[in-house]
Amino acid sequence: MTSTLTDTPDLHLLGREALLHEPAGGDPEKLTLVRAQGSLVWDDRGNEYLDCTAQAWSNNLGAGDERVVEAAIAQTRELTHARPTFHTPALLELAALMVSIAPGDLNRVGFTLHGSMAVEMALKLALRNRPDAEHVAVLHDGYHGRSIATMAASWPHPGNAFARLQPRFLRLPRPDLFRPRLGRTAEEDTELTLAIVRDILEKGAEGSVAALIYEPIQGNGGHNEFSASWHRGIRELCDEFGMLLIIDEVQTGFGRTGRMWASEHYGLDPDILVFGKGVGGGFPLAGVLAKHEHAKFLAGDDQLTFGQFPVSIAAGLATVKAIIEDDLPARAAEHGAYATERLREMQTRHPLIGDVRSPGLMVSIDLVRDRATKEPAPAEAHEVFLRAQRKGVIFGESRYANLGSLIKIKPPLDISRDQLSHALDVLDDVLGDVERDYGTGVR
Ligand SMILES: Cc1ncc(COP(=O)(O)O)c(C=O)c1O
Repeated sequence: MTSTLTDTPDLHLLGREALLHEPAGGDPEKLTLVRAQGSLVWDDRGNEYLDCTAQAWSNNLGAGDERVVEAAIAQTRELTHARPTFHTPALLELAALMVSIAPGDLNRVGFTLHGSMAVEMALKLALRNRPDAEHVAVLHDGYHGRSIATMAASWPHPGNAFARLQPRFLRLPRPDLFRPRLGRTAEEDTELTLAIVRDILEKGAEGSVAALIYEPIQGNGGHNEFSASWHRGIRELCDEFGMLLIIDEVQTGFGRTGRMWASEHYGLDPDILVFGKGVGGGFPLAGVLAKHEHAKFLAGDDQLTFGQFPVSIAAGLATVKAIIEDDLPARAAEHGAYATERLREMQTRHPLIGDVRSPGLMVSIDLVRDRATKEPAPAEAHEVFLRAQRKGVIFGESRYANLGSLIKIKPPLDISRDQLSHALDVLDDVLGDVERDYGTGVR
């Protein structure tokens, strides 16, 4: 059937119908991207967009950086595939570089291609190290991936069809700094939640817990930051109950929050750290850092055919060097401070903006229907997203777990100030339009 087709657009329509991950009939507003450079992307109709999502917050270094492109091409010419029983020079160099920039005393590293698989690697490492433990604990609203096990470790999606085959995790509550429970302050909510977590570990776990995994700032679960006292309290509980602390920095690592690692903001001392996204410069790459006493994989525990894909490793090596050379964490801190200040000013004029979140370029606004009740405004947020895209700026949305009230501003960390300022101007306009059309603030 396809052989009778001669022009590309028809093939594209058929492709939309054929893709397993498309809704039936395709999504009319879904763009087909053909090119990217820095913070810009172009679609197949020649439209240019400012990409404030960095493609799932992965292009911390803007797209098409010559240093990464050259490294990937050079590696492709030399060797594209080596099974994990062999080393490549770039693998060894990247391993040495990663442990040199790791927070705390994490001095062992393993690589794989997806954040989800890196989380699985971390879980396996924890279970290897705690052979008698029964559980792994996770936080409510956490997100750790889309493999069978990491979906289970994440906030359970309504209508999750896979639960039958998923491992069970011990789910622990988390404090909420924006919507603390029962009218408490954020600090009181944190204290109360820590006390409940202790109770569960003491009385509710039926067996010991190998590890607790959580994100230092929850990304897909709603940009939920925690206070330093929460992180301190959790570390103390981990030590008291013999649990390894796994910090998932897949989204927060490599400068996104204004430091190389979000862990640095809070003095976190993880036993195992998971990284991904930004490390690959647009190539699939992820992995795990661990303290040497926890580095105990046995042969066959964690070998994937393409797990150390040489082209990704070479691209990752060039990317991490570039992130250091360009001091992208500092760029993220400066841009983030600027964006946050502008958004706070907008908040004084736009009743839709309930909260402004950062740090660094992990920026978002939480849209509310009513400032007093903080009722989330997901329909309005989706409208802001659509109208901004039509004006050439792609913001991030948060559709996960019905928390669709966030608009995320998380471009590459080397975005120019003019570009960032333009994105915020568009957001300002679009918020005004949506407020007018939805009657926000006049009810
Ligand atoms: C915190 C966190 N962990 C793990 C993952 C899974 O990464 P991947 O989609 O590369 O499998 C993600 C992806 O969004 C993430 O944000």
